Amino acid sequence: MATESKSPIPNSETVKIRPAKLEDAAECGRISGEAFFKINTSHGFPPDFPSADVASGLHRMLFSHPGFYCVVAEVDGRIVGSNCLDERTSIAGVGPITVDPEIQNRSVGRKLMQAVMDRAAERKFAGVRLVQAAFHNRSLSLYAKLGFDVREFLSVMQGPPIDKLPDGYRVRPATVSDLDACNRLCKAVHGHDRSGELTDAIKEGTATVAERHGRIAAYASVLGFFGHAVGETNPDLQALIATAPKFLGSGILVPARNAALFRWCLENGLKVVQPMTLMTAGLYNEPMGAYLPSVLY
Ligand SMILES: CC(C)(COP(=O)(O)OP(=O)(O)OC[C@H]1O[C@@H](n2cnc3c(N)ncnc32)[C@H](O)[C@@H]1OP(=O)(O)O)[C@@H](O)C(=O)NCCC(=O)NCCS
Repeated sequence: MATESKSPIPNSETVKIRPAKLEDAAECGRISGEAFFKINTSHGFPPDFPSADVASGLHRMLFSHPGFYCVVAEVDGRIVGSNCLDERTSIAGVGPITVDPEIQNRSVGRKLMQAVMDRAAERKFAGVRLVQAAFHNRSLSLYAKLGFDVREFLSVMQGPPIDKLPDGYRVRPATVSDLDACNRLCKAVHGHDRSGELTDAIKEGTATVAERHGRIAAYASVLGFFGHAVGETNPDLQALIATAPKFLGSGILVPARNAALFRWCLENGLKVVQPMTLMTAGLYNEPMGAYLPSVLY
């Protein structure tokens, strides 16, 4: 028996992409919550958003932040998906992108991706990056077809606080006066800074630094899913991880190719939650130090 779909069927003429408005956030959050719930739980993984309210709150923040360019896809005037581009630094980050589960695999995702990639080209970003769920065949294929290369295998890791300050370190909240030193460190490791994100994190009070011999050797915007961290060496980064009161969201994203750091996390009680992949288009330098990417890159 045929089942009736609630969603209009998209085709290349009916799908319209337009800038997101703040009042779209509740519907985009609902779609996002459902889409991530469905893809994650159908593969046996926990959802990225604990509820639709959390997803809507995130979309409200993204749609009202001047550092993000966000778009929605509409079919017959109804919102069927959304995507965002983080424009806070010289490398743009994509996501979260979601399409209504009822009409996935009908090219809406491709259009939402093309919209933010066109924007990145127009604004002359040196590169565009994203992180995808490694078990999601469709997103992996779509991004590869759009020119993104697989760079890093990531393990999302979560667990109780390690609560051990290693000898020789001082860990403290980051302040605006740390910004230059943190940006220099990020540039030395990645070839670019992430000043826009770090400035926001300092304002929100989530950023931390680890000092060794009185100078900053590592910083984190947030120890968790939505934050990134950079260290000169693994022990520098470990000082931050080992003193974090908790790991926010689904957890920290650990590049598993950094075998020493990955094993240290395992030995200190963190468990692997899910696999993810860092993908990049445009400028990319192999990192020259220790780092944890955010869920954007
Ligand atoms: C990921 C997502 C946004 C993609 O949107 P979509 O509308 O379903 O995808 P599209 O139809 O535009 O594109 C899928 C592409 O992958 C291809 N594809 C799908 N499954 C594939 C497979 N197993 N192997 C190879 N290619 C595959 C399709 O043919 C299509 O390619 P084409 O554009 O060249 O024809 C959407 O599926 C979604 O919301 N998923 C759940 C949430 C999520 O995972 N978001 C991404 C976070 S990184």
